[in-house]
Amino acid sequence: MKDKLKAVILVGGHGTRLRPLTYNTPKPMVPTVNVPFLEHVIRNLGGHNISEIILAQYYLAESMQDYFGDGSKFGVRLRYVMEESPRGTAGAVKNVEKYLDGTFLVLNGDIFHNCDFTSMVKFHRRHKAQVTIALTPVENPTIYGVVETDSRGKVKRFTEKPKPEEVTTNMINAGTYVLESEVLQRIPPDTKYSFEREVFPPMLADTKSVYAYSFDNYWMDMGTPEKYLQLHRDILSGKCDNRLFEKDVTIGDKCDIHPSVQFSGKVIIGDNCVVGHGVRLTGPVVIGPHCTILENAVIADSVLWHDVAIEQRAIIKSSVLADNCDIGDDSYLVDAVLGDHVTVDAGCKLKPGARVLPGETVGNT
Ligand code: GDD
Ligand code: MG
Repeated sequence: MKDKLKAVILVGGHGTRLRPLTYNTPKPMVPTVNVPFLEHVIRNLGGHNISEIILAQYYLAESMQDYFGDGSKFGVRLRYVMEESPRGTAGAVKNVEKYLDGTFLVLNGDIFHNCDFTSMVKFHRRHKAQVTIALTPVENPTIYGVVETDSRGKVKRFTEKPKPEEVTTNMINAGTYVLESEVLQRIPPDTKYSFEREVFPPMLADTKSVYAYSFDNYWMDMGTPEKYLQLHRDILSGKCDNRLFEKDVTIGDKCDIHPSVQFSGKVIIGDNCVVGHGVRLTGPVVIGPHCTILENAVIADSVLWHDVAIEQRAIIKSSVLADNCDIGDDSYLVDAVLGDHVTVDAGCKLKPGARVLPGETVGNT
């Protein structure tokens, strides 16, 4: 891009479908390979000549500001704007209108992708579009916004969360837009308003300048625990073009890893962890900082946040354990998702697929 653009990232949603991980952690701060999800989004944007990133916030906003500060540590300039009440996707952008003019980007804050924003903006300008919507192919379009286009890339129809019989294409709204500021005139101030339901569909009826920019690089909306875990598998396996983890095993600073620990697949361990005798770590596995894994425990295909304690011989498979969980001796977890500060008693076998609320204790009774 010749001139620098601003970008708005929508980070105000409640992350309801990602519960129990998001009761105390907003979705953008959910650790993703040991850094907040939003850090990946910001670093990706930062490579594309962006002058300022505006974070449109509502839910659990403080932790983002504490972590990202003014953005300089991440090579970007950040501005935080808090909504008085949730304004929806379009209302949130209207709420930051005074910081915007001309052409700018809008991103849903829960998408991991490597869309080439620079080339998307070029496309937008070449077509003199008012809105350009990034599209990506998916297997189940009904949980997204489905976008039909004509042969020249103009958007013909936009249907948010269509019924199966309304699905006419597998190309969906990838949650990334280039917008001209005049589009904001279509959004009433101080009102909850949706791009997907209230801005784009009527625009199609009365203007001819909504375009679609298709890309088929990696794309993931990490809206559910299953997708969150899948995203880790994809990042670690290199499917996202992420070359950060070429080594099979990455161990943080000040860790105490017993020489008998058996590693297989990609394993990432954060700082200040202790891993005891005979532990088996079968990747993809990501272990956050300050975790303790005691003798002969087994962890496979799982993500642990910080300060998790896994006691002796516990077995954890395809699970996500949020901060400060304590998993007792000889317990067994498969496909489990535990909120923060969950205790699992010794010898407890959780039902496969269990979801446990923050602070709960799970026993055998
Ligand atoms: N500031 C602010 N205020 N942000 C919000 C609000 C709000 O009131 N409501 C939602 N958001 C943010 C969420 O945090 C998220 O980053 C983004 O807006 C989209 O909301 P989701 O709730 O995640 O929507 P979705 O995943 O069901 O659908 C959207 O994304 C799909 C792609 O993943 C739509 O844009 C679909 O059309 C799209 O296909
Ligand atoms: Mg989403």
